[in-house]
Amino acid sequence: MTNLGPITLESGFPSIARPTGHTTPADLTNLGPAARSAIQELLDTTGAVSFRGFGIRTVDEFEAAAQSLLGRLAPYKGGDAPRRAEKGLIYNAAGPDKSRLLRAHNELSYAPWHPTTLCFGCARPADQGGATTLIDGHRVYSSLPHDIQDAFRTRGVTYIQHLPHTPTDPASGIKSWPETFETDVKDEVMRHCQANYTTATWTPLGLLTTHRTPATLDIGPAPRTTWFNQAHIWQDPTTTPDPTDMRLWQTRLGYGAIYGDGTPILATHLDTISATLEQCTIPVYWNSGDLLLVDNRAVMHGRTPYTGDRQVYVAFA
Ligand SMILES: [Fe+2]
Repeated sequence: MTNLGPITLESGFPSIARPTGHTTPADLTNLGPAARSAIQELLDTTGAVSFRGFGIRTVDEFEAAAQSLLGRLAPYKGGDAPRRAEKGLIYNAAGPDKSRLLRAHNELSYAPWHPTTLCFGCARPADQGGATTLIDGHRVYSSLPHDIQDAFRTRGVTYIQHLPHTPTDPASGIKSWPETFETDVKDEVMRHCQANYTTATWTPLGLLTTHRTPATLDIGPAPRTTWFNQAHIWQDPTTTPDPTDMRLWQTRLGYGAIYGDGTPILATHLDTISATLEQCTIPVYWNSGDLLLVDNRAVMHGRTPYTGDRQVYVAFA
């Protein structure tokens, strides 16, 4: 346990940060350099830090704390989750359908850019459930069979998305391209996609992109391989049994994933991955005013089903 004036830190998964004595939200916003670097070191070594009892409840308090902890915040450009900006670059972390588990993922692992750090904050916990889940990516990788490790590490994943021109029924889980790229300026979106994605074309239905990217990362000073992909979420063999057929994608909206060399990911591999992710899941239950910092490369996250009017913010950097 480390005492840093207003903050006490305790290493774990997640690590815990608590106020040493009486505190106000401003204490977290005005951290000194020693506390800041101790928090960063704890995040780097353990992958997640849960801040309990600092009383960060309003969107303004959360924005100030997130900026203090993360520095410059980033937009959710290219993301597949339905989000609305609560204020500036502070988003809601609602996710789709609250009655369903939001499965383990790294934020934007399928996109050309991903945040290195996430900051969540709870304005109001769920009545029941609603834990944010944490999944250690190195533990996932080392728990998987060698053939799955090797296939993902050596081939990577190509993510395919065909996004409609206009919003569809939220229940479809498919965002339009203006929602995805946070602008409806077509030329701007195509310039961005051509510069950053493997392929990007307009179709009669919308925007079709592919993106080949690594599915594992080697991170840390003594590099350890960590699982870093969401093929298990984008590729659903029951709805898209033939994701490698690019001619079919011209007439089908939605998301899919194949190996980076263009071959299909076996459904049995996806089942094994989903089961392994479940085994590695640690729930973090919220109290109003708590924050959670997550190393987005080292640790995956998700959310358990819930009831009630859960309000959780998220910021990216
Ligand atoms: Fe997420």
